[in-house]
Amino acid sequence: MEFKVLDAKTIRELIGIEDVIEAVENIFKDYGHGDVRMPSKIYLDVSGGDFRAMPASVPGLAGIKWVNVHPGNSALGLPVVMAMILINDPKTGRPLGLLDGTWITQARTGAAAAVATKHLARPDSETVGMIGCGGQSATMLKAIGSVMKIEKLYLADKDHDRAAGLAKKFENIDIQIVDTALAAAADVVCTLTPSRTPVVMADWIRPGTHINAMGADAAGKEELDPEILKDARVFVDDWAQASHSGEINVPLKNGVIQGVAGSLCDLLVGKVKGRMTIDEVTVFDSTGLAIQDMAVARMVWEKAQKQNAGVTINLEP
Ligand SMILES: NC(=O)c1ccc[n+]([C@@H]2O[C@H](COP(=O)([O-])OP(=O)(O)OC[C@H]3O[C@@H](n4cnc5c(N)ncnc54)[C@H](O)[C@@H]3O)[C@@H](O)[C@H]2O)c1
Repeated sequence: MEFKVLDAKTIRELIGIEDVIEAVENIFKDYGHGDVRMPSKIYLDVSGGDFRAMPASVPGLAGIKWVNVHPGNSALGLPVVMAMILINDPKTGRPLGLLDGTWITQARTGAAAAVATKHLARPDSETVGMIGCGGQSATMLKAIGSVMKIEKLYLADKDHDRAAGLAKKFENIDIQIVDTALAAAADVVCTLTPSRTPVVMADWIRPGTHINAMGADAAGKEELDPEILKDARVFVDDWAQASHSGEINVPLKNGVIQGVAGSLCDLLVGKVKGRMTIDEVTVFDSTGLAIQDMAVARMVWEKAQKQNAGVTINLEP
């Protein structure tokens, strides 16, 4: 039984960020139509961080991502988030392959922010504020840069070196390293920190802003002043995950908010309306969905088959 192993270099030769955006937007639509299977992710807490098991099936492929979040890893020169994706044939259960999932995670997270930006940000948006310039940030900016023209980019991080390191990767954009309040005054604001207390205050946000709240992906995490959520039109990626571990989890528990406008997946298939006025603040609360990983893995797998890429091993004795 042949089984393919695909490393990050091979995966990056097979697909680019625009392919990932297309895969993520399409799978969000499939989710809106009810064409996927995805239980909520399972958390395993360990000293130093946690692991998450993320199973899903999408048309033509099933599998699971095994991913960690270890906030102290930067000091060790390791990514905070690393992943592997195991894929199977859904009809027979046959194991098909193992994919490096670290870049796929970064790319599909950035792609989700890009899809939300495309559908929720004001069309005249031209400035982006990135708050948290770590492992996920570069692919997120690349993805957002492919759905809007970024005239000015504001980078904020409590570690100035991280912001400076990110700036070096985008030499063709007008970039300023600023404090968080200034980055939060952009047209499109991305929060990408592991914070457990709000880092963005309500009075820093201008009318008409779109916020991609990406960092809160475990119970107790939050990045936004709950006052922002009270007045904004909020879209989750998945209600079960977001109410447990997304940006809304703490304000919901505390009774500051009672619900949201809907999910981005439902918005994409016309079940719920997006931005209603030019002045309202929109928020995308992303927890990260296993279907994003599986949709990208499916694209990689199909291309790898055609191009005979990756290392094939035989699982039989
Ligand atoms: N929504 C999703 O799909 C998804 C996917 C992957 C990761 N995440 C989450 O996104 C967050 C970031 O992940 P990463 O891999 O980029 O982590 P990272 O540790 O590499 O980067 C986080 C950055 O945030 C900065 N930071 C921390 N607190 C800050 C604060 N109060 N103000 C400004 N900057 C601050 C850190 O200095 C660091 O540079 C994590 O919470 C992670 O769990 C979400």
